[in-house]
Amino acid sequence: MTQFARPAFLDSGPKRLLIDGKLVDALSGERFQSISASTGEVVAELALAGPEDVDRAVAAARAAFEGPWSRFKPAERQAILIRLAELVDREFDDLALLDTMEMGRPITASRGLRGMIQRSLHHFAGAATMIHGQTLGNSFPVELLSYTLREPVGVVGAIIPWNGPLFSAVWKVGPVLATGCTVVLKPAEDAGLSPLRFGELCLEAGVPPGVVNIVTGKGGTGAALSAHPDVDKIAFTGSCETGQRIIQASAGSVKKVTMELGGKSPNIVFADADIDALIPSAAMGVFNNSGQVCAAGTRLFVERPVYEEVVARVAEFGAALKIGPSLDPATQIGPLVSARQYERVSSYMELGPQEGARLVSGGHRVTGGELDKGHFVAPTVFADVKDEMRIAREEIFGPVASILPFDDFDEVIKRANATRFGLAGGVWTKNIDKAMTAVKRIRAGSVWVNHYFAMDPAVPFGGYKMSGFGREGGFEHIDAYLQTKGVWIRTYS
Ligand code: NAI
Ligand code: MG
Repeated sequence: MTQFARPAFLDSGPKRLLIDGKLVDALSGERFQSISASTGEVVAELALAGPEDVDRAVAAARAAFEGPWSRFKPAERQAILIRLAELVDREFDDLALLDTMEMGRPITASRGLRGMIQRSLHHFAGAATMIHGQTLGNSFPVELLSYTLREPVGVVGAIIPWNGPLFSAVWKVGPVLATGCTVVLKPAEDAGLSPLRFGELCLEAGVPPGVVNIVTGKGGTGAALSAHPDVDKIAFTGSCETGQRIIQASAGSVKKVTMELGGKSPNIVFADADIDALIPSAAMGVFNNSGQVCAAGTRLFVERPVYEEVVARVAEFGAALKIGPSLDPATQIGPLVSARQYERVSSYMELGPQEGARLVSGGHRVTGGELDKGHFVAPTVFADVKDEMRIAREEIFGPVASILPFDDFDEVIKRANATRFGLAGGVWTKNIDKAMTAVKRIRAGSVWVNHYFAMDPAVPFGGYKMSGFGREGGFEHIDAYLQTKGVWIRTYS
């Protein structure tokens, strides 16, 4: 695994917080270790930000918001984003390597995000000069011109998970720079390195001190940020339970909140679908990133006539995926992020058969040689799953597919919607009427037809129901970082 040069970023000693344009230790001096998901080795030591560090990061963000940053022209913010895109591209191999070393996503998959990250930064750059209000007619008895101004919401607290660290950092910081907000970003404890390096690149791109602050730490750091009275908005991606805690904590100062939470997304296969086309897509819709994906299509509903064929072929596809160390370019399935995540996933793999599901493939940890050092799990297929089983209801966040048979259109739509979540869904059919009716009736923020998993910065993504609220992607993403001011001017004619 020596073909990748170790990122120089890792050789400059323990990682520090980024506050007000400077790298600083936590005031307490406390640190924590980042452990490689694949090898179990310590990748780096990171500063553990306490509430007092969150305080000074928020103060820096506030000062920057009210300072020179507020006078940057849209085109100047755009120029910074364009420069940032160039720097991220220059450093991309190292950024991808940091993610892979830390949270374990296979290196080929991490590197495969290059285009998406570039398009995202270009998208935010484009948005910077497109922000606009409206001129509105009014019927007030005297003559008044009314229009709206769009203004940045202020200091943003952004809290991100570990399953796509660089991507998440870009999707949280990009709209901040596009709109003129400032941010305190709290990466996940399992994946703080690429966000920190991205923060340094922001400075290099010309982002003024205090506009982008990064506080690494654990849940307590996020809790301090989400309760902070001087934070105007929280943008969160992560588990539903933590999201609920953040909403409660944010109530004290009535923060604006956007939530991108988990899911248990249905992927529906009708008997007339192109089975050859859907097998890889449906399988990777569950197994990609070892299932650690919020929009994973983990409830695969298959119409009875093709049920056994799809079960067998998804299992076969999963079994043929190459499980290996994260840094091996041939690896398709890497480890789960942590021992804790393995405990969660393995408890569901044990639960499946107890609940009466039929284990078709996988269902076990994969060990031997290098694999002993991480928590590798074989792509797992459970068939004959019933709606009421916990494996069909709860987010597992591992490479575990629950495949459920169905007989009828109305029945499957009803069952697909019988979940507290509503992040995404898939439909496979050659019948356009069936597809379009299903699209309308699935209660989820994204629906793919004859595909699973396309994402683009120009297209909104987010949750219905308990999968959250607010959208990332599309102009709604930018909107979520803006306030609207109604302006009235008395005129005389
Ligand atoms: P988590 O939701 O607890 O962590 C996400 C982020 O929230 C991290 O930065 C964490 O430090 C922070 N955080 C934790 N407690 C907090 C609090 N009280 N206040 C503010 N911030 C807090 O997710 P975790 O524990 O890493 O994973 C547990 C499960 O959550 C997974 O098994 C999976 O089911 C789900 N999950 C879903 C994700 C998604 O993208 N929808 C991403 C990560 C996890
Ligand atoms: Mg780790």
